Amino acid sequence: MPVQVRLKRSIPVPRVIFYGLIAALVLLCVLCIALPLLIHLLKPRCAKTDDTSIVEPPIRLSSSLIPEKYFLSIKLFLPSSTVNYDRNMDFTFSGNVTIHFQCVQETSEIALHVDRLRIAESSFHLVERSLQAKQIKLDKMQTFVAVEQTVFRLAKPLKPGAYALHLSYSGILSESLEGFYRSSYVENNEKKWLAVTQFQPTHARRALPCFDEPHLKAEFAITVTAPSNMKALSNAIEESERLIGGGWKTTRYKLSPKMSTYLVAIVVCEFEHTAAKTKRGTLASFRDCQSHVNCQFCPYSSAYGLVRPWSLKESSPRK
Ligand SMILES: *[C@@H]1O[C@H](CO)[C@@H](O)[C@H](O)[C@H]1NC(C)=O
Repeated sequence: MPVQVRLKRSIPVPRVIFYGLIAALVLLCVLCIALPLLIHLLKPRCAKTDDTSIVEPPIRLSSSLIPEKYFLSIKLFLPSSTVNYDRNMDFTFSGNVTIHFQCVQETSEIALHVDRLRIAESSFHLVERSLQAKQIKLDKMQTFVAVEQTVFRLAKPLKPGAYALHLSYSGILSESLEGFYRSSYVENNEKKWLAVTQFQPTHARRALPCFDEPHLKAEFAITVTAPSNMKALSNAIEESERLIGGGWKTTRYKLSPKMSTYLVAIVVCEFEHTAAKTKRGTLASFRDCQSHVNCQFCPYSSAYGLVRPWSLKESSPRK
């Protein structure tokens, strides 16, 4: 009897442990599922900024977007007697660019090369070219200094088609000899300024937001606004030059041939110039500053060629 009692009493003890273990296991399983779920549910609220930030793009641009034409208008704030503006704007430039491009593969981001430019986010204007009125909204703009790109994330993915993107921006005429830079010389005891571009190999992005890879060739329609006593030169043939008031002059150039971004060139200076036809009949315009003893650079331009800063020490085209 006592044995039976002992047995009867001893059986429920392991059962309690057994059921207790099962209960603990079930609780553990429930916790395992519920905890990550809880974390996941709470995450969007605590980490919203992480979720919406754009991932840094690779160094090479994606092949989804192919540029066709750039309509570039640049205004240079160079000290000159003809213009009056806030001196804080000295050696800066402002620009408007409209890029015509093809989207060949659906994408929700547009990545452009940008270096040291300040893009006005509110100026972002993207339309499908056949449906001018229908705007594609910007969701977020983010600049990645390491890869020299600004990424525009769109509210809706871009379907394959032809688009036009407009941006307004500003930049600084640098003191280095890269991108869009300033230079000076002294004439009759007066310091004269000039602005020159040097875009090779990857400095076009310092003057305009662009697809700055050599194979992404496009046509360029350039307009330069500068103090009226200065001459603006670019790659293409001059189309018009007109005074726009306030001592400013706007020079418009014809559409350039299809070319790489690094070949785009702009020079704004006070140099004299001589135009001549080359043996092959190309209209060439030479500007040099050999009479200016202290001048560092002698820009040279030809109708379809480059505008190059020539150092006096190197051979200049006249020599
Ligand atoms: C850019 O566009 C704005 C708005 O049309 C205009 O006010 C400004 O003068 C333009 N700037 C340049 C450099 O063309």
